Amino acid sequence: MTATLQSAPGKGTSVLRLSGISKNFGAVSALTDIELDVKAGEVVALVGDNGAGKSTLVKVLAGVHQPSAGSIEFCGQSVTLDSPAKALDLGIATVFQDLALCENLDVVANLFLGHEMSPWALDEVTMEVRAWTLLRELAARIPSVREPIASLSGGQRQTVAIARSLLLNPTLIMLDEPTAALGVAQTAEVLNLIERVRDRGLGVIIISHNMEDVRAVADRIVVLRLGRNNGVFTPESSNQELISAITGATDNSVSRRHDRKAVNVQETRGGAE
Ligand SMILES: Nc1ncnc2c1ncn2[C@@H]1O[C@H](COP(=O)(O)OP(=O)(O)O)[C@@H](O)[C@H]1O
Ligand SMILES: [Mg+2]
Repeated sequence: MTATLQSAPGKGTSVLRLSGISKNFGAVSALTDIELDVKAGEVVALVGDNGAGKSTLVKVLAGVHQPSAGSIEFCGQSVTLDSPAKALDLGIATVFQDLALCENLDVVANLFLGHEMSPWALDEVTMEVRAWTLLRELAARIPSVREPIASLSGGQRQTVAIARSLLLNPTLIMLDEPTAALGVAQTAEVLNLIERVRDRGLGVIIISHNMEDVRAVADRIVVLRLGRNNGVFTPESSNQELISAITGATDNSVSRRHDRKAVNVQETRGGAE
């Protein structure tokens, strides 16, 4: 293991290809016939209303849930992700929404948490140097790697969680709502970090409810609705188009509000001229 990031496979090559992925929980179909492609050096946003199946899909890819049907290709090879360890081994890293950091431990300890007992167990000094190297490469703004997590901001915690998952040199990284709890400046910092990770050639899947964040960072936007694919969009797509795909209706309260606001703005502008 190295703390420095290695380049992933050539940009534009296929990292992940899902075909016909379905997942049933008893009588509940959480996912039906999902197709998803992620390339190296690409950020794919996964969006959809509550219950759309986003978390289930992430858990299938993290090796937490086994799909009921369908196939997964990772870096051109057909794979079975039958445990979280298997997914990690293959190079699929997940930053879950709760981050799972230890409040009382410092940044270094959190970065190497769970790796201390491995064959490449490191001494404190080496770990600290590697922690700094990695965070500097990510241009992460962490005041000190000896700072306990409890004293860091939400954005800094997200940064530590992302950095930790990068230590295993993944080819694909999945981020579940990385900006949900963050203010404007911290959100910008995390979005910058995601861009740097993408520029390293990793494939990135980001789940977000925030269309502005999604548009700012995603190369493609994949909409799920009721467990099924419901369109693939570019960041240039309008809010209207995205919201329609997410809600499954062109005429709904959110888009009506959006329209009304647009009309109001035009009227105000018209009146001022
Ligand atoms: N462990 C589970 N057991 C039963 N049903 C589940 C389980 N996990 C998710 N579901 C169901 O699958 C559907 C998709 O949920 P989820 O993947 O959490 O959606 P999202 O993350 O997009 O909000 C929902 O109907 C949810 O109730
Ligand atoms: Mg969810």
